[in-house]
Amino acid sequence: MAERFETKTVHFHHSHLEHEKAKATPIYQTSVFSFPGLEEVEDFYAGGRNYLYTRNGNPNQVELAEAVASLEQAERGVAAASGMGAIMAGVLAVVKPGERILASHEIYGGTYALLHNELARLGIELALIDLTKSKSLDDAITPNTRLFYMESITNPLLTVADMPHWIKEAMRFGLITMIDNTFATPYLVQPARLGADLVVHSATKYIGGHSDVTAGVLTGKVEYVERAREIISTYGASLSPFEAWLGARGIKTLALRMERQCENAAAVAHFLESHPSVSRVFYPREEDVQFFHRHKRGAMVSFCVSDEEKVYDFYRRLRWITLSPSLAGVETTVSHPVTTSHRALTEEQRLSTGITQGLVRLSVGIEASEDIINELNQALV
Ligand SMILES: Cc1ncc(COP(=O)(O)O)c(C=O)c1O
Repeated sequence: MAERFETKTVHFHHSHLEHEKAKATPIYQTSVFSFPGLEEVEDFYAGGRNYLYTRNGNPNQVELAEAVASLEQAERGVAAASGMGAIMAGVLAVVKPGERILASHEIYGGTYALLHNELARLGIELALIDLTKSKSLDDAITPNTRLFYMESITNPLLTVADMPHWIKEAMRFGLITMIDNTFATPYLVQPARLGADLVVHSATKYIGGHSDVTAGVLTGKVEYVERAREIISTYGASLSPFEAWLGARGIKTLALRMERQCENAAAVAHFLESHPSVSRVFYPREEDVQFFHRHKRGAMVSFCVSDEEKVYDFYRRLRWITLSPSLAGVETTVSHPVTTSHRALTEEQRLSTGITQGLVRLSVGIEASEDIINELNQALV
């Protein structure tokens, strides 16, 4: 068995697949599987056969999900149609009406919209906590609090809270812990090893890595993941075989991409820190990532332009770095959180978390770092 992260990224063929010796996994582009007779249908329900209908399960979905679970060192994984689908299934698997979720106040805008707007309709409460200000959950817990939710590196301010501490703290109160590990990836940190019950990914980002797939993966304890699998299937949030195949293919270069992108991000952050048109750079501090495996700080850099009025000019001046409101592809891209990812927040909420009009979120790619720096420099006047 392959043991090391880099080896596991390229050797994860799902054992259920009959590859007919195909080197690459075939795409099981089928909505349904056929059976020679009713005995075999019974056999499926008894657990003897693996697949019946793609909304309930498909070899490509399973390959992607199990590959991510293996990299996360989590017990089990399940794929979903998007990161939001995976978050929705994970949360609904463990929280019921009348219960309460305690989440970091710095979370992706879409996640906030789900936890705050949609789950409120189901009678699920949300409370937010600033993990950089408090040290304990003593004052934040109520008897109905069930789930603790945070991002390993936050979107878009790239804060790295002390996750090992917060997981222990949540466990002290018997809460279930769910970590969004999209920005850090298991290459940098594996929250399940720190005790997290559920670890979720927008596989649309670094797992896929090429801005050509929308997918999500939920990993974690078997009991919760299996419940989430039922939810994904019943709510119709299953991942298509082709998207799953693309996601699995992306994983093969995850370690190489992360290595290069993190290195480039360090060079870009260093450049931005001394640029006169930049008032502030958001990039994880070295002391904050001590619990990350490679002490790398991720491949995202956010910054504020000194003159907020000029932020529109900055985006227009870019020549080959594109304004694309996603992240984590091999190409460097920029996004504007106020108008895109964090649009669901009110202005007051945005400002209270530091998401200002002049904030630019940069997803650093695999290009030559000198070219990325030159491109930013000519746009930052
Ligand atoms: C941290 C984080 N989590 C979850 C999501 C949602 O993922 P998806 O767009 O694949 O649904 C995103 C999307 O940007 C994200 O940045």
